[in-house]
Amino acid sequence: MPRLFDPLKLNALTLPNRAVLAPMTRVSAEPEGMANEMMRDYYQAFAEGGFGMLITEGIYTDTAYSQGYFNQPGLATEAHRDSWVPVVTAVHQAGAAIVAQLMHGGAQTQGNIHHARHVAPSAVQPDGRQLSFYGGEGPYATPAEMTETEIQEAIEGFVQAARHARAAGFDGVELHGANGYLLHEFMSAEFNQRTDRWGGDYKARLALPLEVIRAVRDAVGADFVVGMRLSQGMVTNSRLKWDGGVEAARDRFVTLAGAGLDYLHVTEYDASAPAFDGGPSLAAIAKECVSIPVVANGGIATGAQAEALLERSEAELLAIGKAALANHDWPIRVREGIGLTEFDYDMFSPMATLSNELGWRGTHGRSATRNG
Ligand SMILES: Cc1cc2nc3c(=O)[nH]c(=O)nc-3n(C[C@H](O)[C@H](O)[C@H](O)COP(=O)(O)O)c2cc1C
Repeated sequence: MPRLFDPLKLNALTLPNRAVLAPMTRVSAEPEGMANEMMRDYYQAFAEGGFGMLITEGIYTDTAYSQGYFNQPGLATEAHRDSWVPVVTAVHQAGAAIVAQLMHGGAQTQGNIHHARHVAPSAVQPDGRQLSFYGGEGPYATPAEMTETEIQEAIEGFVQAARHARAAGFDGVELHGANGYLLHEFMSAEFNQRTDRWGGDYKARLALPLEVIRAVRDAVGADFVVGMRLSQGMVTNSRLKWDGGVEAARDRFVTLAGAGLDYLHVTEYDASAPAFDGGPSLAAIAKECVSIPVVANGGIATGAQAEALLERSEAELLAIGKAALANHDWPIRVREGIGLTEFDYDMFSPMATLSNELGWRGTHGRSATRNG
């Protein structure tokens, strides 16, 4: 039975343990999308805190319609690429791997310095209001249905961003197919109403993610990690469920994994809750049908919860979000039996400043509080 502090081989990498930093948007980049020193210090703190692998915040992929938030970092240009080098170097020096999450905002876009136009598979307006936390205001725009040319440009954007990630020294890329952004929208019955080759039943709606996986794999080669994140819920509607239940979920996982992925990252509000009406969790469904590692995410706050998912064989890796914001050194604390600081919504600052705000550095032996 694997334990939390057992190593894991992931393509050419050997991760020192199973604790992964979940991707979290920080809106802390320069206005033009360059990563900066604040972000370097922020990611370095999690690497020093014992996480074996960090997944970055969602990074936009092209200078057309992919940017989702103002001050979101990019990997669309050479300047973006170069700005990540100090971040990646600092994380590597602290002993962790780092994977760039590649994200196209799709219909959930609320801030793009390159274009005012919003695009998505179909002209379906997301529910609810933009996230004020990330500088949004009012309802979401109704996006334009993407043309074939725009779809090809979006695919090329993922490819170019993956090349830039590799050149900047990242260990891999995670394709963001979750939380309601573009790749998720293409897989979604609600958001993809196309009648061309990119739409149809749940299998047909996998066409764009499959194309992106294959194109990215071709571009980065066999020895670079390529993962994908999947969820049922969206930022704009957390209650959505995939159509087709467990059987179709299995088929999705097997089909996507078979296109060239090294891992599947599955996120739900509670990683261990039944995915549909009763039955196994989404992570357990994935784990049972694919041979690549599964990363589970959602509501994992303690070492005991993480170990339980490993023991029940629902995942190989555990991604920690809010509990990591409260404890940049979550893995060290768990391993050494040091008390964890409970997450509270005061820590929900969108900025990459928590390590300093929490007085994190050198506090392993003490209980870190917001005021240090
Ligand atoms: C502040 C914040 C920003 C987030 N940004 C992203 C993101 O950029 N990409 C992504 O896939 N998920 C994002 N998420 C979702 C988290 O990765 C994670 O799924 C969620 O917090 C639930 O896990 P947890 O219970 O461990 O926090 C974000 C979550 C938070 C709290």
